[in-house]
Amino acid sequence: MSNYFCGVDFGTSNSSAALFDGEQVRVLPLDNKNDSPTSLPSLLYITNEGEPIVGRGAANAFIERNVDREVVLKQVDLGIAIEGYVASEPDKSESYRPGVTDPNVREAVRAKAIVEVNSPGRLFQSLKTLLRHENFKGTEVFGVNYQIEELVAMILRQLKERVDAEAGFSVERAVFGRPVRFSERDAENGVAERRLRTAASLAGFSDVAFFYEPVGACVEYAMAEQREQKLMVVDIGGGTFDVCIMQFSGSHGVGKRLQESKILSVSGVPVAGDAIDREIIRSKLFPRFGSRARYGPSKLRMPQYVFNQILDWQNLYKLNNEETINWLIAAESDSDDPEALRALRCLIQRNYGYPVAREVEAAKRRLSVDTATTINIEREHINIQEALEREEFAHIIEENLEKMMVELERAEQDAGLKPGDLDLVLTTGGTSLIPAIQQMLRDRYGAERLKQRDTFTSVATGLAIVAQYA
Ligand SMILES: Nc1ncnc2c1ncn2[C@@H]1O[C@H](COP(=O)(O)OP(=O)(O)OP(=O)(O)O)[C@@H](O)[C@H]1O
Ligand SMILES: [Mg+2]
Repeated sequence: MSNYFCGVDFGTSNSSAALFDGEQVRVLPLDNKNDSPTSLPSLLYITNEGEPIVGRGAANAFIERNVDREVVLKQVDLGIAIEGYVASEPDKSESYRPGVTDPNVREAVRAKAIVEVNSPGRLFQSLKTLLRHENFKGTEVFGVNYQIEELVAMILRQLKERVDAEAGFSVERAVFGRPVRFSERDAENGVAERRLRTAASLAGFSDVAFFYEPVGACVEYAMAEQREQKLMVVDIGGGTFDVCIMQFSGSHGVGKRLQESKILSVSGVPVAGDAIDREIIRSKLFPRFGSRARYGPSKLRMPQYVFNQILDWQNLYKLNNEETINWLIAAESDSDDPEALRALRCLIQRNYGYPVAREVEAAKRRLSVDTATTINIEREHINIQEALEREEFAHIIEENLEKMMVELERAEQDAGLKPGDLDLVLTTGGTSLIPAIQQMLRDRYGAERLKQRDTFTSVATGLAIVAQYA
């Protein structure tokens, strides 16, 4: 049967896809290694032989092969001259021409990169977030330069393979979701969408139309209804907080209802689950790794860049160089918190950044069920049992919630509506399960208006329906 319409939700944390045959929508199994096979974790592991592993298997491979392994670093000369310090990853994009030198720059610097000599592979998480960073063109993995579009395409290829298998033919047309705002900067929004389109095309989706992700979730709900309604969708995922308000007529039939629907407003901000995880790490774990420690005869404060690197665990290994480690050993021997600094060194040397991030994320999820939990990390010199209560958690993420509230108000204002004018507020996305967020929505819209939709698949479902008419 070739009359399938495809919706793809490439998420920061999880991706999903659905097929609509004009009557029924089917959310597709994409990853049989995942607890929920209809969600494909947006994770990519590239082995040192260049083989990509996608989804839950990527996380498993990284944990098995990379964690708890001594990292050996080497500085390599990349064989090009650059006009200044370029950190460890020089820009090798098309627009970059090392031959054209600025006359004001007297000395060219040789580009060097710190590489792991014995690394079995590299893991990428939240690639969608990187799409917006114009300066992040790509990265070097075991001597091969991958553009960001190619990295994303590796995930989309696996997704497409499953879609094709389910459809029975190569599905080249699809409606893809995109967040209302990939970035708070307009220019970056365009960059991100263009790159996602290129990635989709590299993966074989040659004909792609974009719709806002929350519009997908709104359509998913509204299609089963036959009432005139004003609906708000609040979709909070790993990378973005998205809102949309739509109006539907009371007509019968999917096509007619869609035709007569109207988007009254959309708004969004790139603050969601990943940002919340970082807040927890900052406030609960930084001190346990010595952020408040003082060292040396002058009782110096620890440099904060070291701790910010913990947030960016994918690049934590770069701290594992002789200079930093020797400095840490020296600081530890003359510090008021040697235990914390030993834990920090262990975190860096044993490559525990990812397990730490995973435990924090898991603790956050436990707090959606329990009122208190313990962040538990016990690995060699790391011995952390940090209690976290729901109330404290809500306090830690207050600023994030305020940013979300601004977007809710903006969406209402742009639609010319008051909270009481909405018939329903539909919630979706993993982060919408956080009790403090539920509370914020209840306070504003009333419990009777809130309706949780399928957390991980409602966007793709709606996009597949939209695809018939796109
Ligand atoms: N039970 C839970 N409680 C709190 N947070 C959760 C829960 N389950 C998942 N999350 C969080 O939800 C996020 C993933 O949600 P989701 O899969 O909807 O995002 P996404 O669609 O990949 O991201 P985006 O739409 O922003 O691109 C992660 O940050 C995850 O930690
Ligand atoms: Mg999402």
